Amino acid sequence: MHKAKILVVDDELNMRKTLSCILRQQGYDVKVCGNGKEAVKILDTEQFNLIITDIKMPHMDGMAMLSALRKKNKEIPVIIITGHATVNSAIDAVKLEAYDYIRKPCMPDEILFSVRRAVEREKLISENLYLHDQLKEKFRFNGLIGNNKKMQDIYQLAQKVSKSNAAILIRGESGTGKELIAHAIHYNSLRKNNKFLAINCGALPENLLESELFGHEKGAFTGAISSRKGIFGMADKGTIFLDEIGDLSLTTQMKLLRVLQDGEFRGVGGTRQIKVDVRIISATNKNLENRIKQGLFREDLYYRINVIAIDLPPLRERKDDIAPLVKHFLAPKRISSEAMNLLVSFDWPGNVRELENVIERAVALQEGQCILPDDLPQYISVGAGLAPAHISTITEENFREARTAFEKNFLISVLRKTNRNISLASKKAGLSRRHFYEKMRLYGIKNRIKD
Ligand SMILES: Nc1ncnc2c1ncn2[C@@H]1O[C@H](COP(=O)(O)OP(=O)(O)OP(=O)(O)O)[C@@H](O)[C@H]1O
Ligand SMILES: [Mg+2]
Repeated sequence: MHKAKILVVDDELNMRKTLSCILRQQGYDVKVCGNGKEAVKILDTEQFNLIITDIKMPHMDGMAMLSALRKKNKEIPVIIITGHATVNSAIDAVKLEAYDYIRKPCMPDEILFSVRRAVEREKLISENLYLHDQLKEKFRFNGLIGNNKKMQDIYQLAQKVSKSNAAILIRGESGTGKELIAHAIHYNSLRKNNKFLAINCGALPENLLESELFGHEKGAFTGAISSRKGIFGMADKGTIFLDEIGDLSLTTQMKLLRVLQDGEFRGVGGTRQIKVDVRIISATNKNLENRIKQGLFREDLYYRINVIAIDLPPLRERKDDIAPLVKHFLAPKRISSEAMNLLVSFDWPGNVRELENVIERAVALQEGQCILPDDLPQYISVGAGLAPAHISTITEENFREARTAFEKNFLISVLRKTNRNISLASKKAGLSRRHFYEKMRLYGIKNRIKD
């Protein structure tokens, strides 16, 4: 077994001798030095699992040494042994995250007990860091988190296609990370030094959207007091992200198709054709095939924008990604395993965005270092299956909130069980179709993908 390495820092020769003798007897690998300055120097080149230090020493005292180490982000545990215990130094020690604080005179057993615990803990932490590093070495695409097999495949595909100019269609429920992937593709492409411009096709009325896309000439329509470049004009040699492309009107679809076919466009009210070289990434949470069938989306445009499809699975279908995402959003705070279990059990209708918001809120509310179940919104524990322990946490004050969460999750489950067939779902829920719709609207439940 690997022997733990301990650095003993004390200006008293006797203390150094006694300590190193006790520790060596227990099988630890011990090195000694006489003050903080020497210790910092040694620590720059050698790795230790633990430091045991005195406070009062010449040149650099224990506190100054500790603060120098923390500034360098050295996480190594430190046990302080001192004959000059004052309240202030104890408080400072806590602030500097000393592991333990022992007063002289002290018994060997007392020291060994503290050392054993500190070494154990350090081992756990460094193993964790090691695991963490291993995770990092797995395929990561521009800071996107996800170890799930499907997500790993998606990142591989995204990286491969980022070097080409092929049009990409990203599909997935709201909050699954469509825009983030589009971004990552752009910044991995040869276009990365040119613009990435995003536009939400569902947010603007048709004429404004066209002017946003293609620009307009002065006087082209009422209110066009000066000419303006559209994003096609501004993103030359870059990437355009067409978000919610399913919401484009048929007229705008036709205009877009022409640009994609000819590689040139004309601003609203303009006469000149302008050549342009852009890469198109589109995103939608709608089922475009259904829209084609309904005559709402042009099939020819669909094939143009969908040379490569990337389908982002909802978070509930990649539950193994919840913990890494939580840790990413939480850092440097920590989370209790009970709280993590609740997060993993929850269904996340709003996907990664909802998870991110919940963590952000918890981090803001919790002043300590560790997120506990109580820091999470009530609906998470209710939605996680109303574990008996959480039924008891429903109080007079949060009754309404709990009920809402419970009902919302119930409706979502019924929708899922009936393959999102609203007639069937409302029947199963014992509600009229209209009532079911009203509740969906009330709770902000979207009938995903199929509409
Ligand atoms: N794999 C991931 N790693 C880290 N953060 C993520 C990941 N996926 C999503 N996020 C974060 O979740 C939030 C939502 O992501 P994004 O805006 O890309 O979703 P979207 O699919 O475009 O949603 P919408 O359809 O509602 O526009 C963002 O803050 C994003 O940074
Ligand atoms: Mg988006």
